[in-house]
Amino acid sequence: MHHKKNQTLGEFIIENQDSFKYSSGELSKLINAIRLAAKVVNHEVNKAGLVDILGKAGETNIQGEDQQKLDVFANEKFINTLANREIVCGIASEEEDDFIAINSNDKGNQNKYVVLIDPLDGSSNVDVNVSVGTIFSIYRRVTPVGTPVTLEDFLQPGNQQVAAGYVVYGTSTMLVYTTGDGVNGFTLNPAIGTFYLSHPNMQFPEDGTIYSVNEGKYIHFHQGVKDYIKYCQQEEGDRPYTSRYIGSLVSDFHRNMIKGGIYMYPKSSVTQEGKLRLLYECNPMAFLAEQANGIATGGKTRIMDIKPTELHQRVPFFCGSKNMVNKLQEFLEKYH
Ligand code: AHG
Ligand code: MN
Ligand code: MN
Ligand code: MN
Repeated sequence: MHHKKNQTLGEFIIENQDSFKYSSGELSKLINAIRLAAKVVNHEVNKAGLVDILGKAGETNIQGEDQQKLDVFANEKFINTLANREIVCGIASEEEDDFIAINSNDKGNQNKYVVLIDPLDGSSNVDVNVSVGTIFSIYRRVTPVGTPVTLEDFLQPGNQQVAAGYVVYGTSTMLVYTTGDGVNGFTLNPAIGTFYLSHPNMQFPEDGTIYSVNEGKYIHFHQGVKDYIKYCQQEEGDRPYTSRYIGSLVSDFHRNMIKGGIYMYPKSSVTQEGKLRLLYECNPMAFLAEQANGIATGGKTRIMDIKPTELHQRVPFFCGSKNMVNKLQEFLEKYH
């Protein structure tokens, strides 16, 4: 992986495309399209209070969540940007009931990649001007090129991802991604609309003092999780740890990767599967975490080794600094 001072994302993609094992330029084009859609969505998110795009869209998605207007906007922008450029053969999105097969010219679609996206993550935070994000995950299709994609192309375990990343629309907007050779972060200079490499080779510190969990659901958690939370709060050494929870996975993950921490979205007595979506949220974050010296587990199984059974499947998710996740696991194992 080559890094250069002041390198733009565009330059970085070109410079590193040969180091990618399936290099054909196709993946580079795909990342370029994501970069473009991210800028469009960023522009809209930035002026959200001014242009009547706050609030609910009036529909619910297949998972029973109220769609925000910006969920719908971001979903359309990402899908259209990818579909119009004919660089993918299929797309699946948190906001779509089914996957979308992209048809192109008479020769059939010759592209080999499918993309799975959470177009706007943390969308309930939009109305209150708190950071939101976009998460993406890229696989090579498993069915033959030139035929329409099938569900099988999307239900691949996370260990088959060729790239994954997120955009965080925060105090500054960043695009962070991996192609399996470390994690790099690029910050948008909004004046000129260019992403610059600002965070080369991002790594989770091995240890941390931040735990992130929705403690409002505490009474519904598994005893092992409850005990771990109590451990975090206990007075000893560098403890009590600090609790930080934004409610946007992207932002919570981003902070923990930089500062050292653990993110938890356990199953509970009311939601047996947890809340986060395996394909759009957990797998891409798990790939980034492992590429950045962190861990992502569902409790018993490595997230990326779970064989998905449905598009919108939810799983418990624990992710972050190695020593913290290992410690949590000790607590979980006591109750197996
Ligand atoms: P989304 O906005 O894409 O539906 O995702 C919401 C997710 C995730 O971003 C966040 O970490 C989590 O839901 C928050 O859930 P709680 O409000 O239950 O804590
Ligand atoms: Mn949602
Ligand atoms: Mn989300
Ligand atoms: Mn979302």
